[in-house]
Amino acid sequence: MSFNVISAEEAASIIKDGDQLGFSGFTASGTPKAVPMALAKKAEAEHAAGRPFKVGYFTGASTGDSIDGTLARANAINFRTPYQSNKDLRSALNAHEAEYFDLHLSHLAQELRYGFYGKIDVAIIEAAEVTESGEIIPTCGVGIAPTICRMADKIIVEINSRHPKEIRGMHDIYEPADPPYRKEIPIYTPSDRIGKPYIKVDPSKIVGIVETELPNEGGKFAPLDDVTMAIGHNVSNFLAAEIKAGRIPASFLPMQSGVGNVANAVLAAIGDNKEIPNFNVYTEVIQDAVIDLMKQGRVHFASGCSLTVSNPVIREIYGNLDFFKEKILLRPEEISNNPEIVRRLGLITINTALEADIFGNINSTHVVGTKMMNGIGGSGDFTRNAYLSIFTTPSTAKNGAISAFVPMVSHLDHSEHSVKIIITEYGIADLRMKSPHQRAEAIIENCVHPDYKQLLWDYLKLGAKGHTPQSLQAAFGFHLAFNETGDMRNTDWSKYAK
Ligand code: COA
Repeated sequence: MSFNVISAEEAASIIKDGDQLGFSGFTASGTPKAVPMALAKKAEAEHAAGRPFKVGYFTGASTGDSIDGTLARANAINFRTPYQSNKDLRSALNAHEAEYFDLHLSHLAQELRYGFYGKIDVAIIEAAEVTESGEIIPTCGVGIAPTICRMADKIIVEINSRHPKEIRGMHDIYEPADPPYRKEIPIYTPSDRIGKPYIKVDPSKIVGIVETELPNEGGKFAPLDDVTMAIGHNVSNFLAAEIKAGRIPASFLPMQSGVGNVANAVLAAIGDNKEIPNFNVYTEVIQDAVIDLMKQGRVHFASGCSLTVSNPVIREIYGNLDFFKEKILLRPEEISNNPEIVRRLGLITINTALEADIFGNINSTHVVGTKMMNGIGGSGDFTRNAYLSIFTTPSTAKNGAISAFVPMVSHLDHSEHSVKIIITEYGIADLRMKSPHQRAEAIIENCVHPDYKQLLWDYLKLGAKGHTPQSLQAAFGFHLAFNETGDMRNTDWSKYAK
């Protein structure tokens, strides 16, 4: 069967007001670009003509500006899930112009199949190739593509010629059966291959092929600075000490590392520490640092859901596919983030907190309790099931006006029960075997910025009693001081004294 080659505008005309869409990819990697940009233009034209036009959509995680940015600016979003990181979308959802519900990434594909979120009208999939029998070769990110292809009434394939056909073989596409028929997912080491190198679809559902050569929208990572370098060294020294103490096997364990600048810097520092053996990565996003370490022979194999790398690095990978294809597997996110596998492989997980409290609870998502930053992403999938879960964060944000450590988190993503280690540029708080007041002492002593230490010691003296010595009157004192004065250092506990 041969497919119709259509323009992005023709593809957009297939999509109707109120449709539910699924986009392939994960972060800006593997996401379609031409069709969503044409869709945003269609929405603007419909609005100008006085007609409503909005769609709801499911993606792997965040996307590039051509999906989340253009559709948010065109006011074309009914709802969206999961993780996002686009500035304009962030503003839209914080203003309730687009509805957003945040999910653990490993849950999304199965919950779509369970029928929790209704149907998928159209799936839009970026591919390196599609065969007449309906084998779709994704590009550098998979996300929820297999599930949305299977569920969608119609599929539009965006063939992007920047991604070589020879990428075939870098994917491992596997969808588990749903309960009550689910069996174990047979991955025992990060390099185990359990599925097919393509997504198989019914070719009659492919309503058009759009050809494009739009480049990846991969951002840059911030250069290492003193703070991120110090965090990285603290993490790598901690891990080396754990190996020496026999709490991590001498052969080491696979690593998961989160998204963003801090995570990229931490992984680079682990690679530099010669006391840590060469290792494998079983993670969600494979960032630039992993590719560097692969070239140095420090990382043997990386299994992930996307190559979330900068554009020079993706070009390098495509220029050396023979080298990298043996060392990288891209999987759907319900497999890269699967709790069963995270627990079985014994992952050491490292994620970044936006805010932590002195008792070990973590807020990864909400700025001062109300404004959505990005979303929980896979941090919960990994943290809750890790061999050893670590959170890193710079001790302050916004030039010191915000302490990353507060008496009580203003939003809870990961509870004290899941968080074992917290690390900042100042040091390490090992929370294992510590009661809440002991955890508070370890965190204040080792992790908190000097500007905030005394304030937090004084908080503990406010007279609160009980197993977790919170003062309910003062628990949000840091946040209130920030809202009132723009600086948490202005917190005045005397306001709350009895
Ligand atoms: N209050 C307000 N703003 C804060 C803050 C706080 N407590 N802590 C950090 N910020 C701001 C920073 O100032 C910075 O703002 P800017 O973009 O205006 O400069 C921004 O948050 C990002 O901080 P940065 O220190 O550069 O960290 P990052 O790039 O490593 O991102 C997270 C940190 C928490 C936002 C990011 O890791 C995330 O979204 N995590 C949740 C999902 C996740 O963990 N996924 C991984 C699973 S595999």
